[in-house]
Amino acid sequence: EVWNPSGRYRVISTKSMPGTRWIRLLTDQDCRVEICTQNKTILSVEDIVSLIGEKCDGVIGQLTEDWGEALFSALRKAGGRAFSNMAVGYNNVDVNAATKYGVAVGNTPGVLTETTAELAASLSVAAARRIVEADQFMRAGLYDGWLPHLFVGNLLKGQTVGVIGAGRIGSTYARMMIEGFKMNLVYYDLYQATRLEKFVTAYGQFLKSNGEQPVTWKRAATVEDVLREADVISLHPVLDKTTYHLINKERLAIMKKEAILVNASRGPVIDEAALVEHLKVNPMFRVGLDVFEDEPYMKPGLADQKNAIVVPHIASASKWTREGMATLASLNVLGAIKGYPIWSDPNR
Ligand code: DGY
Repeated sequence: EVWNPSGRYRVISTKSMPGTRWIRLLTDQDCRVEICTQNKTILSVEDIVSLIGEKCDGVIGQLTEDWGEALFSALRKAGGRAFSNMAVGYNNVDVNAATKYGVAVGNTPGVLTETTAELAASLSVAAARRIVEADQFMRAGLYDGWLPHLFVGNLLKGQTVGVIGAGRIGSTYARMMIEGFKMNLVYYDLYQATRLEKFVTAYGQFLKSNGEQPVTWKRAATVEDVLREADVISLHPVLDKTTYHLINKERLAIMKKEAILVNASRGPVIDEAALVEHLKVNPMFRVGLDVFEDEPYMKPGLADQKNAIVVPHIASASKWTREGMATLASLNVLGAIKGYPIWSDPNR
């Protein structure tokens, strides 16, 4: 699909993206926009090299693509100096290779913060209250009357929410769980989440002044401290060498037997095979997963576990956010083509 065929700058989007604002933004600035319509969910390096062709000024790519040496050298050869991931995470992008070939790289932070935090919160509540299991039970025609012990789950109020990675999304998720469910907070991050701490303190004082039990917060010294203390744990780190398999067999073992683990960051942060084994022997332990180690696949056995809720990497999937991501990715590419420093350069 081609927009503004006579445009001076050739910009490729490797996928069709929601909305039309991003297309207008580019075509109004003299770009010819080519949207790949290949009937294939994941494009290979070879597919993208052939899309880039002999002349290409910039590319908007997706987190499912491997943006390394091969693609950045092809883009540079085609005269391109602009690339943006349509994602905040950029573990699929070799920024050093981009730098080596003089290609500016952007990502899409900010516009997906609330949407992603809302999904992590939804998975937390759904796991605590066993909503998916209960839905399946109803649809299977198994409900034959109210019972005192039917789908008894966990009350979140007064429990402790654990956040590993208290950046934009982790902090927003924490606020949702604290304000929405009056949970206490324990978090782990290399940096102090000052604003989050201030929020919990102020909210605790507000509750106290209303005669309610105040919420508390604690910055943990280690990941293990969070795992031991929290009832609901949500993972929000970036994926890199230090966070690969951050949650492994040993760390699963120190979590509470009835804990809830949520992951809407990147799949490889959890050793998924170890998680499946843990779920099998700990039926009261529950997980809500938006991401998987080898997407689009799940490790054998995961889908059979009633104590797991699994959704297909949809944390940022709200209309407003996806249109915002497309717009921001386009702005990144446009800016770099026109010679401005990329607005959301992940290295800045
Ligand atoms: C991201 O942006 O990194 C998400 O995984 C997809 O929105």
